[in-house]
Amino acid sequence: MSFYVAGTGSALPEKVVSNDDLAQFLDTSDEWIVTRTGIRRRHILTHERLEDLAIASAKEALADAGIGGEEVDLVLCATMRGDTVTPATACAVAGAIGSAAPAFDINAACVGVLYCMEIADSFIVAGKAKTVLVVSCEAMSKLVDWTDRSTCVLFGDGAGAMVLRAGEGRLAGELSTRPDLHAIRMPNIEGNSPYNMIGQEKLALTMDGGEVYKFAVNAMGRNIEEACAQAGLTPADIDWYLPHQANVRIITASLKKFKIDKDKVLLNIDECGNMSATSVMVLLDQYAKKGTFHCGDKLLLVAFGGGLTSGAVIIEWKKNQ
Ligand code: ACO
Repeated sequence: MSFYVAGTGSALPEKVVSNDDLAQFLDTSDEWIVTRTGIRRRHILTHERLEDLAIASAKEALADAGIGGEEVDLVLCATMRGDTVTPATACAVAGAIGSAAPAFDINAACVGVLYCMEIADSFIVAGKAKTVLVVSCEAMSKLVDWTDRSTCVLFGDGAGAMVLRAGEGRLAGELSTRPDLHAIRMPNIEGNSPYNMIGQEKLALTMDGGEVYKFAVNAMGRNIEEACAQAGLTPADIDWYLPHQANVRIITASLKKFKIDKDKVLLNIDECGNMSATSVMVLLDQYAKKGTFHCGDKLLLVAFGGGLTSGAVIIEWKKNQ
């Protein structure tokens, strides 16, 4: 007994920023960004609070699953930074859906949703939960330095959610970390303690793009092989690949050796950019809503991110179980 996906939801900020919009104030171009990354546009927070998007996507996922918030036994939220350090965004979501279940946030950067799915699996297998709400949300626009063209063009904001219920939909889960404190780094606020002898690092996300690129290609390829082996499948048996949407070139390079039909590889990077933890969640919801998945289809979610974390989860689509 593990879980199956009973419902999904997502919410994106209203404001859409194109590459040409960025070229108005940065030394960049639509041609550079599209060729190097595959990104054309991204949604950016303006008047919305991240929390409100997380709540909207959670309510949509609950409605999709046909259940009320009182049926949720655990609320998890994957985010690198919610609107507040405390309370956790998961608590804001729990409050908004009328749940008194345990609620906490998980930071595994872009792999956060996969970490949450594996935590949900553990709670369900241990008999501590029957229904888990996994939410993800990222305000990447508030973490990057908007004068740094090598990072700010890559990211977008958004939120997503899925309801996981006890059932037989999880086929495999592989998580790992190759600790690296510098390849992707976003410092925290140091506060004003008179005893603090450590200076404040610059409050902006920094990244060694080349290093992350190499890690991503290797890690995603390895995680796919390991998850397939765990499920007793080959990469060819997977119906749909949902890779972290960081860079089309990374996705292509990491899947190349498996000779997968490109129509099986789902993308929204052109419209959303890299939304960190919430990328694969929004991708799942968007394609679920399009009717792409059918009962029995095998979906492989794979991601990498700051940490450096990586992972893959394989599920069988049984939404109407
Ligand atoms: N517009 C125009 N030129 C640019 C831009 C830009 N937006 N950004 C960088 N350049 C320039 C660089 O300055 C460099 O110029 P130079 O040769 O004169 O020094 C040139 O373009 C080439 O730069 P590279 O870094 O070699 O470009 P590359 O092809 O490697 O692409 C990229 C850079 C897109 C960042 C790539 O390395 C990448 O995708 N890496 C992985 C990033 C990633 O996936 N991050 C995930 C983070 S997820 C998380 O946890 C938050």
